[in-house]
Amino acid sequence: MKVLILGVNGFIGNALANELIKKKGVIIYGLDVNSDNINKLLLHKNFIFKKGYVEKNDKWVENYIKKSDVIIPLIAIATPKVYVTDPLKVFELDFESNLKIIKWCSKYNKFILFPSTSEVYGMSKDDKFNEYKTNLIVGPVNKSRWIYSISKQLLDRVIIAYGEQRKLKYTLFRPFNWIGPKLDTLKRAQLGNGRVLTIMISNLIKNKNITLVNNGVQKRSFTYIDDGIEALLTIINNRNKLNKKIFNIGNPKNNISIEKLSKILLQEYKIHSKAKYTGKIISRSEKDFYGNSYQDITQRIPDISEAKKYLKWKPKTNLKKSIELTLKSFL
Ligand code: UGA
Repeated sequence: MKVLILGVNGFIGNALANELIKKKGVIIYGLDVNSDNINKLLLHKNFIFKKGYVEKNDKWVENYIKKSDVIIPLIAIATPKVYVTDPLKVFELDFESNLKIIKWCSKYNKFILFPSTSEVYGMSKDDKFNEYKTNLIVGPVNKSRWIYSISKQLLDRVIIAYGEQRKLKYTLFRPFNWIGPKLDTLKRAQLGNGRVLTIMISNLIKNKNITLVNNGVQKRSFTYIDDGIEALLTIINNRNKLNKKIFNIGNPKNNISIEKLSKILLQEYKIHSKAKYTGKIISRSEKDFYGNSYQDITQRIPDISEAKKYLKWKPKTNLKKSIELTLKSFL
């Protein structure tokens, strides 16, 4: 089996490639601008890597789509700060470059495993978000926070339409706040360009205050990367049976408020770090922290009944362990 992973050095890409390469007969073609997370993989005979931007390598990408059985396009901006500071970049990279890839997958009759996102559900008030029943609810167009959600949603709809009208084979997966080693770089997180856990870890390490946006009452269901990767491997291995399916990949048992997350993280930091933390936990409004075009999501719990039924999958890593493993990797 030949697998093309675009964004192979990224958080999900490197973790997936490291597991896939262990399988007999698997060849991985990878593209990324960076290679710092894949040093070991670069030495593997079944790992073929191209360093470069997806936008600037159309020929290479098209050629390797032709050569592959499974295409996994993971290149995207996925940090809320950029949705509000550079929405056009999100449109160009997350939407435009992925649209081309979807079209090539259709043209060459290839299976695409596409990363949708928990963000597509937006501000839905459903207790649990379901792939086929939950309405997707976003804010007004001057709130550019939603450009990521909408870009992904339209790509989901385009893929489904290609599946119906041109027989494109696909599975969509929706990660719910996956965390783990290499989630973001601490350098970028320090500038606010990360996800909440890495931003908080970088604040702890730098002995800076931790910020709770809107008092940290909003909740997320944090999912450990290894659990997510297990689900993806199951999809890849059973792709013919899972054509046209959509899966939430998240951990409903790890649903907590951001305030609680900060407390657990602080406790873990005191246990695992030698450095003394003297910062405080402070609160700021969303407008103050992200700017005018941000809107928050107050609740986000995945319904994982589809994944349980078709993948025989459920997440195993509890919240404390997920936070501990992520923190230790950065320390
Ligand atoms: C994330 C990102 O959009 C994507 O990574 C992804 O597609 C998706 O959700 C996902 O991982 O499922 P969000 O959960 O809002 O969106 O992103 P975070 O930056 O991790 O923020 C989580 C919450 O923490 C937000 O309510 C934010 O306001 C808050 N926050 C963030 C703080 O309270 N303090 C901070 O320092 C940073």
